Amino acid sequence: MTGELSPIDKAKFVAAKKAVEFVEDGMRVGLGTGSTAAWMVRCLGEVVREEGLRIRAVPTSARTAALARDVGLDVISLDEARWLDLTIDGADEVDHEFNLIKGGGAALLQEKIVATASDRMVVITDASKEVETLGAFPLPLEVIPFGWQTTKALVEEMLDSLDVMGRTTSLRMNGAAPLFTDEGNHILDLHLNRIGNVRQLAMVLNQIPGVVENGLFVDICDTVVVGYGDGRVQLR
Ligand code: 5RP
Repeated sequence: MTGELSPIDKAKFVAAKKAVEFVEDGMRVGLGTGSTAAWMVRCLGEVVREEGLRIRAVPTSARTAALARDVGLDVISLDEARWLDLTIDGADEVDHEFNLIKGGGAALLQEKIVATASDRMVVITDASKEVETLGAFPLPLEVIPFGWQTTKALVEEMLDSLDVMGRTTSLRMNGAAPLFTDEGNHILDLHLNRIGNVRQLAMVLNQIPGVVENGLFVDICDTVVVGYGDGRVQLR
């Protein structure tokens, strides 16, 4: 499955492989989205095949669903599962309190719903995603297409009154056209550089009409598995 991996892929792979050890027979498992989560889905497929685990999996995007089916996992919807034992997902940034920025892969809405509906969220990451303060990675905001420019202006106005360093926002594109998420929305990326009060920002952003959800995950992640290019893994 791995062949000759670059250090960054090796780091993602070893974190993913370690996290799969948390999966037990009979569990309902949420599957994240992104390159690290894709390693986890492949590892999980292998474990399910080799050890005969009976698990049901709830993916957080169409592309994770396709990969999960490809590797032979039993894919169900969140409505069928209702509640999950465990979700394993990647992140764009993780701070020392396990606050996260997610949504680099535009799947933050389903990811947040699925992680929140789980007894435990395990984040898998390479060491480059660990930060002192969140915000260097642009914060994704899922907004409905209707009136998105008005929503953008309202967000920028609101940022003026908050403890952040940057104020610019940009509409995420897919080539020459705005990107559409799996839920048919757009993504605004907020270039904040430094987020002083994560909890406050997460709450305030969701009060703006047109904002569906923000990529700050607060009090959701329970465990972080960090992989390194030399094959080492650490649990936080
Ligand atoms: C997708 C996400 C991803 O988990 C995040 O972008 C990390 O991706 P990768 O593992 O490819 O670095 O939030 O919406």
